[in-house]
Parts: sequence; C-alpha cells; structure tokens
Amino acid sequence: MSALSLTCRVCATEHPLEAIGSCSRCFGPLDPAYDWELLRRTVTRERLADGPASIWRYADVLPVAAPTEPRLSPGWTPLVPAPRLAAEVGVRELWLKLDTANPTHSFKDRVVAVAARKAQELGLGTLACSSTGNLAAAVAARAAAEGLDAAVFVPADLEPEKLTAAAAYGPTVYTVDGHYDHCSRLTVELSFELPWGFVNVNLRSYYAEGSKTLAYEIAEQLGWRVPDVVVAPIASGALFHKLGQGFAELRELRLVDGVVPSLVGGQAAGCSPVATAFADGVRVIPVRPATVARSLAIGSPADGDFAVATARETGGSIHAVAEEAVGKNMALLARTTGVFGETATGVTLGALRAALAAGEVRARDRVVLLVTGDGLKTPGPVSFTYAPVPIEPDAETFLEDVLTLARDWPPEGSRQGRPLRSRLS
Ligand SMILES: Cc1ncc(COP(=O)(O)O)c(C=O)c1O
Ligand SMILES: [Zn+2]
Repeated sequence: MSALSLTCRVCATEHPLEAIGSCSRCFGPLDPAYDWELLRRTVTRERLADGPASIWRYADVLPVAAPTEPRLSPGWTPLVPAPRLAAEVGVRELWLKLDTANPTHSFKDRVVAVAARKAQELGLGTLACSSTGNLAAAVAARAAAEGLDAAVFVPADLEPEKLTAAAAYGPTVYTVDGHYDHCSRLTVELSFELPWGFVNVNLRSYYAEGSKTLAYEIAEQLGWRVPDVVVAPIASGALFHKLGQGFAELRELRLVDGVVPSLVGGQAAGCSPVATAFADGVRVIPVRPATVARSLAIGSPADGDFAVATARETGGSIHAVAEEAVGKNMALLARTTGVFGETATGVTLGALRAALAAGEVRARDRVVLLVTGDGLKTPGPVSFTYAPVPIEPDAETFLEDVLTLARDWPPEGSRQGRPLRSRLS
C-alpha cells in the first residue's frame, strides 16, 4: 500500500491514516497522500491490465489494501457508445459510463467498498452513513456481504423505491424528520460518540477516493486516451472533485498524455448551490433543497467549492437544469440508448445539453456521460411515457382494428394491413 498519510487539502497538515473526518487544524477535507515516486515506477498499463475486473485493479492508488477475498466488487462497469443520443444532442462521439451495473446500481458501491475496507482494517463493526438514498443501499449491501452491522440515516420522504431497495439488505434504517443536511449534521455529531464507521463522515477521505476509479476506468477503457469532456452530476461535489484528481493523477503516472478533460457538472435547479456559485463567481451559499432529483438534494455541499474549482481548472462548467427537464432527459436517454438512468442522470444529460448550447462543449468533442444511478429506483418523473393501448386477446381484432387504427399504419406499400383471414387463405 502506497498511501502515506491523510493530508489537508487546505493547509497541508498531515494526519495518520485513521478514521479522521477533517483537518484537526482548519477543518478542511483530508486526502490520502501517496508515494508518487514509487507509484511512477510501479504502476504501468501492463500491470493494471493484469488486475481484476473491478475497482481493485487500481488498488495501488487507493488508500486501503485490496480485499484478499473480494465479495461483490464494484467497478469496471461498461463504457458503451451512444450514437443515437449523440446525433440527437449534436455531438460527434458520446459514451455512457454505466455505473448502474454496480451491485446496488449506483456509483456509490465504489466509494463504500473503499470505506468499508478501512472500517475492517480499523476493526469497526458497524458501517453507517447519512444518505440521499443510493449510499444507504450501498452501505447496507456491503455490510451484508461482509457480515457487518449497518445503520443508515435518510430523509423520511425519500422515494419509496429507494428506501425499500436499501431496507432489503437488512440495515437499521433511521428516517430523519428533515432533509439530507439534517441527516448529515446528525451523523457528524454521532460520529464523535459511537465507534462506528460513518463512511461519509469519519471515513470520508477513504470513501471519496473510491470515485477516482471512474477516471482511471474511463481512460483505460478508451485505450488510455482521455475524452475531451466528462459530464457528471453534483451533490456534495465529492465525485466531481475526485474525477478531476483522478485524471490529474493519470498524467502524473504517465499513463496518459494530453490534458485533463473538461469536467461539466449538473445540478437540478431546485438544489443548485454549486451551479450558482460557479455562475456568480462566489463561494457556495447553502440552500434549502426542493428538487425531483432527490439523490442530488444536498443544500450544504461539503465539497462544493472544490467542485467549482475543478470546473474552472479543467475549462469545464456547472449547469442548473430545469426541474421539468429531468424526467424528459431520463426518457430521452432511455429511448435513444436503452439505458434507464435515474433522476441524477436526467440532470447530467441536461448539463451536457446546456454546455453544448452554450458552445462550451463542441460538436467535434469526444464526450463521456456518467450514468451514476438506476431509473428503476426513481421511476416517477418518466410516468408520462406510459401510454398503453388496451386491447382484447384476439389476433383478428388486433390486426383489423387496432393496428389499422394506429397512426402510420399500415406502412405505405406494405401488405400487412390485410385482414388475418385473407392472409391465411
Ligand atoms: C446517483 C448519484 N449520482 C451522483 C451523486 C453525487 O455524488 P456527490 O455527493 O459525490 O457529489 C449522488 C449522490 O448521492 C448519487 O446518488
Ligand atoms: Zn487543514
């Protein structure tokens, strides 16, 4: 393991590799620091290619040792071309990174796998988190796989599909009378009192680092090329910031040439403190969330200012996506690619469209869009697509009446509109 310490992102004070949530000097976030000289010598494309088809192929650049007996490993999810959607939105090359293929159908399995390893190293028997939904399922499933206890703290009014998807793994689900920021504050306070591994509080440095693996995978799956643009959703901002760090590390390790991709972020208009800070050129000002994109409903984002910095440093941008557009984008993605992403993905696609409209992303760019969560957990906003045609179970009526009544039927010049009986004779 090449991690040396936890280093404050703000004041650079070093801390030991323990369960410490923030800098003891300035409360800044802590990032694992590595022996880059060693890594530059040892981490090669060939070595990575020999690794497992999971996040653990990147264990050299993670702050924990890979599990000796891996269970339900996340990562190495498909990166698939989306030519029909590319044509629809007006970009040359568009790829979807399908993190819905992770064990609990969101990218949160990556971050939890890393934090859980640290919890096990430290002998913590309970995994806990505050969550907007997906993290709760990832924590609960990881605990089930590893034989740990799980306690998750979620807003009481989350989507029922999300709550049930987490509950099935057997955690204790604490439904909090409030929104995510209340859950978060509560778990910060509890983390000082309980010997638990709160993945996004006292294990946050390890947790956040798991997101980096998305950058590594994208580059490796594109044949060690970096795309021009990567589009991602923003809640706390940790994923977005770590994508930037991950792409920068790839250059540091000389695994790729060229520049870091422009990172484009999306938030829903009803909870867009990071997009507002980006647009106004100010620090993030907390808001009270009111959005259909519940997984992104963090009004006081811990890494918000760092996400703004990442967008600026990479020549990217952050967009607020209209609430009405979220379901429409989910449906557009589904009908042009066969991929049903959740509300967060509706936001991500909205951000890409906004960046294209603003000329920030060019038609000739190679773009990767992160599908970080599954639409089956948030089907509400696409209920408008459900317009079934009620019929009798009778082929003749169907062919004579139903199809012939349907718009554009029969296709011009086709023989298929003839009644069943005449075709059989
Ligand atoms: C599906 C999905 N995408 C993206 C995010 C954003 O992650 P972050 O809090 O690291 O910004 C979340 C957070 O809950 C999420 O559930
Ligand atoms: Zn500090």
